[in-house]
Amino acid sequence: MEKRTLGSTGLEVSALGFGGGPVGFLGTEQNRVAEILNFLLENGVNFIDTAAGYPGSEEAIGNAVGHRRDEFVLVSKCGQAFDDLEGEAWSATVISQTVDRALRRLKTDHLDVMLLHSCDQEVLEKGEAVAALIKARDAGKIRHVGYSGDNEAAVYAAGLEAVDVIETSVNICDQANIDMLLPEAVKRDIGIIVKRPVANAAWMGVGEQPGFYANYTTTYAERFISMGITAGDLGFDDDAAWPEIALRFTLSQPGVTTAIVGTTNPSNAARNIAATAKGALPDATIAKIRTAFSNAESAAADQWVGQR
Ligand SMILES: NC(=O)c1ccc[n+]([C@@H]2O[C@H](COP(=O)([O-])OP(=O)(O)OC[C@H]3O[C@@H](n4cnc5c(N)ncnc54)[C@H](OP(=O)(O)O)[C@@H]3O)[C@@H](O)[C@H]2O)c1
Repeated sequence: MEKRTLGSTGLEVSALGFGGGPVGFLGTEQNRVAEILNFLLENGVNFIDTAAGYPGSEEAIGNAVGHRRDEFVLVSKCGQAFDDLEGEAWSATVISQTVDRALRRLKTDHLDVMLLHSCDQEVLEKGEAVAALIKARDAGKIRHVGYSGDNEAAVYAAGLEAVDVIETSVNICDQANIDMLLPEAVKRDIGIIVKRPVANAAWMGVGEQPGFYANYTTTYAERFISMGITAGDLGFDDDAAWPEIALRFTLSQPGVTTAIVGTTNPSNAARNIAATAKGALPDATIAKIRTAFSNAESAAADQWVGQR
């Protein structure tokens, strides 16, 4: 498994990471979460992403691999308000309680990175939320401060002194951050975690994804149809190659450190390891995917901005 350096943090992380959204939102059985995570760790994946806002995800990850904590880099997210915590969204009070709760749920004494979970730029500008994370960092509870988000807000975050890591959407159907954010991240040595790296399996069609994906992925599924490219156009045998094409496209973008594919399926975890091992897509293939995106965006009514 290829390792890459997560910007100025110096952490060496696997190009393929694990996204803990689906196992939370879809309520994947604990045994299955343990099977997937232990399999990934055995095969060189050392990066796990979760969030306070993914129901049950932090607990499931802590139960599955808390005993192997020194084998992976661990990221969670915070900022939203919760019924069992005091304080308003993005307040220092709620953030400090969410950090402490994440440590308990994930069975650890520190997180490698804590991200503000897609707040608006105004929250970043206000400063209270970032200051709360700096305080947690100074107390040794988190090692690095980061932001999860897209477009102008992510570019703004990249300019903040405290921010070492940004999580953002980059995939075949979401290319705005490639031009807006990645060059800035490279310049400032910011580690880039890619969320939604396989475009939520957009090739499956509108509403075909399981569970919460039915609505969540509609934008990508519609964009994919508008882009009108087939795997055959890109030199692959058939459309069964889309998961591989999508993942390799994301990992080919300069500035990307790790792509955290969300999966509830051990077989897909194995396929994603195999796809990562194939390395970057040829430049000509990347160019075709980029052209298909920009042509379809030009023909669309709205600008195709990065999706939260
Ligand atoms: N605002 C934020 O901070 C934010 C927003 C979105 C996501 N995230 C983070 O980013 C992670 C990744 O995003 P995501 O899970 O939304 O999207 P994703 O990784 O692009 O797509 C996940 C979907 O792809 C399918 N899949 C994965 N590997 C596959 C393969 N080899 N073949 C076919 N289908 C495959 C999964 O189905 P199976 O379960 O069947 O494998 C799942 O339905 C999340 O888990 C979360 O950690 C953060």
